[in-house]
Amino acid sequence: MAAAKILIVDDDPDTQRVLGYTLKQEGFEVLAAVDGAEALRVLERDHPDLILLDIMLPKLDGYQVAERIRADEGSTAHIPIIMVTAETDIEQKVRGLRAGADDYLVKPFHPAELLARIRSLLARFAPRYVETAPQQPAAGRVMAFYGAKGGVGTTTLAINAAIALQRDQGRRVALVDGNLQFGDHRVFLDLGLDRKSIVDVVAAPSIDQDILKSVLIHHEAGIDLLLAPPSPEMAELVSADQHHMTQIIELLRQRYDYVIIDIDKRLDETNLDVIAAADVVFVVMTADLSCLKNVRLVLETMSQLGIGSGRVQLVLNRSTAYTGITVKNAESALRRRISYQVVNDYRVAITSLNTGAPFAVAKTDTALGKSVLEFVRQLDRLDTTAADAAALAPATS
Ligand SMILES: Nc1ncnc2c1ncn2[C@@H]1O[C@H](COP(=O)(O)OP(=O)(O)OP(=O)(O)O)[C@@H](O)[C@H]1O
Ligand SMILES: [Mg+2]
Repeated sequence: MAAAKILIVDDDPDTQRVLGYTLKQEGFEVLAAVDGAEALRVLERDHPDLILLDIMLPKLDGYQVAERIRADEGSTAHIPIIMVTAETDIEQKVRGLRAGADDYLVKPFHPAELLARIRSLLARFAPRYVETAPQQPAAGRVMAFYGAKGGVGTTTLAINAAIALQRDQGRRVALVDGNLQFGDHRVFLDLGLDRKSIVDVVAAPSIDQDILKSVLIHHEAGIDLLLAPPSPEMAELVSADQHHMTQIIELLRQRYDYVIIDIDKRLDETNLDVIAAADVVFVVMTADLSCLKNVRLVLETMSQLGIGSGRVQLVLNRSTAYTGITVKNAESALRRRISYQVVNDYRVAITSLNTGAPFAVAKTDTALGKSVLEFVRQLDRLDTTAADAAALAPATS
């Protein structure tokens, strides 16, 4: 069967190369154009099945190209278009969609997101090609919650987001307490020291699904938990050399829609394994100077480690607390967008902690409960596009 043809319209040779490589790896045929006028010529001549269209282009810009394509009478008028841009502005997005784009990607983006969007559009517009998608089992998404500083609310967000994803969105969720020395999940979820932990997994003769099933704890909130060791000195049994964390995460992602891991600010080998395995790292922060300093260092380090900035997202916790630093201040100091905000509500947060009854179960109608719900709805919406597209492959074969 012929491969779907994708036309990449971008004047930057690096972008052409990287996107071209990614798409070819996935079995697509790739066409290229470096400006709007050339895009229209290639379209006429080679009849691509989908266009990835950058907005900032020499000669005709992306909007004009999209408008011309849609205005055309011929067979190319309905070709699916994904607009690609550096702009995050809602106005730009609306303009792109009005010009006739079917979807929209903001740079920098994760290759998985690009592929998911391409597949989902092809499934709609050119279903004959969907079978060419690689037949991998749909794998769950791995999300690390990384605290830029102690006490910013990383554990609170990881636990309640995990529960909300299960209860509100019906997802299968595994939650891992990656704070191996001083994990708090037993306290937050009212579980005793007698409960099994990650130590029971790594001590087994082999790390496999059976041992995980016997150690994970099904919590009444609907999620499955992998707890941290009951005491700090046992943490070292989870070995960085043997990449225990990586092995565990890879097994979990086969069985769950989401694998959520709560980690602290140490950039040690174990945390780096978690970060490397994560599809998204949520860097949890509050609006204070020492946190901003840490976030800046973390962003730098992650980029040095080759973790693309699309995989790192900032979550501002206690966003409505007065600190003298506004979201705008923080964003311009970091030169990064804050992707998500969760409101300040100390009373609800602390009572839920002290009673071992997460607010995502008991207090969904509070400001904090709603704020976390909004957070997971946003992130699940982004992920669903990917999951749906992946699920199409085996179903149509
Ligand atoms: N959105 C919020 N509004 C008000 N208080 C919050 C919020 N989120 C967390 N808290 C409170 O902040 C404190 C620290 O929370 P939590 O233990 O989740 O942080 P952490 O970053 O995981 O800390 P640690 O460094 O100890 O792991 C707790 O008392 C918690 O109730
Ligand atoms: Mg914590």
